[in-house]
Amino acid sequence: MATLFEIPHYNSLRLADSRGKTEMELFDHMAAYRGLGNIFRVNFRGEDWVCVAGLKANEWSWGHPDRWNYEFSQRGFRDVMGPTHVTQMDGPPHRAKRKALKPGFAMSLIARQIPAIDQAVQKFFSDRVGDTWSMMNLFMESLTEANSKTVLVTELSPEARRKFIRFEEDFLPGISKSDEDRAAYYARPEFLELREFVFSYLKELVESRLAGQREEDNFQTMIDQAGDRSRIPDINEWIPEAYLLLMAGTGNTARTLNCGLRFLQDEPEWYEQLRIELTGYTEDSFLSGMNGYPKLKATLMEMERIFPAAPVMPKQAAVDLEFEGYEIPTGTNVLHLQCLTHFLDDIYEEPTRFKPWRWIEKDYPKKAHGTFGGSTHICLGVNLARIHMPIVLANLIRNFSLELEALPEIFVNLNYGVPQTSELEGKLMPQVEDQPA
Ligand code: HEM
Repeated sequence: MATLFEIPHYNSLRLADSRGKTEMELFDHMAAYRGLGNIFRVNFRGEDWVCVAGLKANEWSWGHPDRWNYEFSQRGFRDVMGPTHVTQMDGPPHRAKRKALKPGFAMSLIARQIPAIDQAVQKFFSDRVGDTWSMMNLFMESLTEANSKTVLVTELSPEARRKFIRFEEDFLPGISKSDEDRAAYYARPEFLELREFVFSYLKELVESRLAGQREEDNFQTMIDQAGDRSRIPDINEWIPEAYLLLMAGTGNTARTLNCGLRFLQDEPEWYEQLRIELTGYTEDSFLSGMNGYPKLKATLMEMERIFPAAPVMPKQAAVDLEFEGYEIPTGTNVLHLQCLTHFLDDIYEEPTRFKPWRWIEKDYPKKAHGTFGGSTHICLGVNLARIHMPIVLANLIRNFSLELEALPEIFVNLNYGVPQTSELEGKLMPQVEDQPA
């Protein structure tokens, strides 16, 4: 077997206009994969990392639960959310935590909230008809509002909602920084102030709930079932759990919708077909799943494929591993490019084109779809995101017409395999009903 140092190295391009860009932004994963195959080394943050990519890499990486050490690679979550935060846990404690969080995130428990989520989104949109919004902000605010009316019930003022959003959006970019840069990033006074606000808000909320105030939400189910855990959580453990319900992942969901909506603008015929499919849509429509909405389902799959919001996962080998004939010793830093498959033309024909109908015509390998990651750490919020996205889109298409200021160009960024679009800005207007002929 070949050693780690024999893995071919991709020398990052250092372009003349690289000022302000990170090494990863300059780095072309697709070129590296095409030239070097499923495994290659790169220099990232001044350190040596092994990249694994392609269908084989997804199967291999997600194949064995205890292969990876997340405590090391997701330390930013620990820094900000504390040592009991799920993302940076490993092995049996991580599995126990996932089990404990299940009452908050299981499909059966989220699905019962579908009508209430729909009402909250619809009201949020209706109240803002005629106002100019960045679509990203509109989606993120409406989803946070919907969470505060469903999975974690709380009277969230618009100011508090915006502070939560600013915190989430400021928090996540710090995760991928080096130890030194991350420490400086999270020590910024504006970040500390936002964190203090979010944690104090949730502390008060959790304390009142533990003191007996009941709500019909997913958090209540988690509290009611806490006796099944090996130990009852203390307040410092409940706070990040409440955060998961109210806020986590809304940025990723909103970004996916924002980008997807931009792509949809280039497909007016498909948009019209979606509008027709959604004619009879009501708040209860998705209670029995999405089988009655094949075009909407296909559109969302294509949005997930073409804009995977978290396409690269840093991991660390927890045990000695082997991949493609190379040794990967314990402690090796590995970048899993789990969404590179989305842009391989031997899997998806014309991969950089937004073609929702491809999902109706054909099935694709499950392990080629890396949007939510895989194995034991697969996105905890996947069920919530996959309820939020159709509800937002169905509401938008069924009940409103969209007046966009401009259509920004779509750039396909193959560094991460992620197309990026500038933000969409526009207005929601009431839908003009079809006139009888
Ligand atoms: C379109 C929206 C979203 C995308 C693309 C996304 C993507 C991801 C990805 C790629 C991972 C890493 C999985 C792995 O390690 O293999 C992840 C983990 C996670 N996501 Fe999401 N996510 C989204 C929405 C959400 C939402 C709404 C929540 C709400 C709670 C959420 C909470 C989490 C958590 C807590 C983890 C860590 C799970 C663990 O380590 O056990 N995500 N997500």
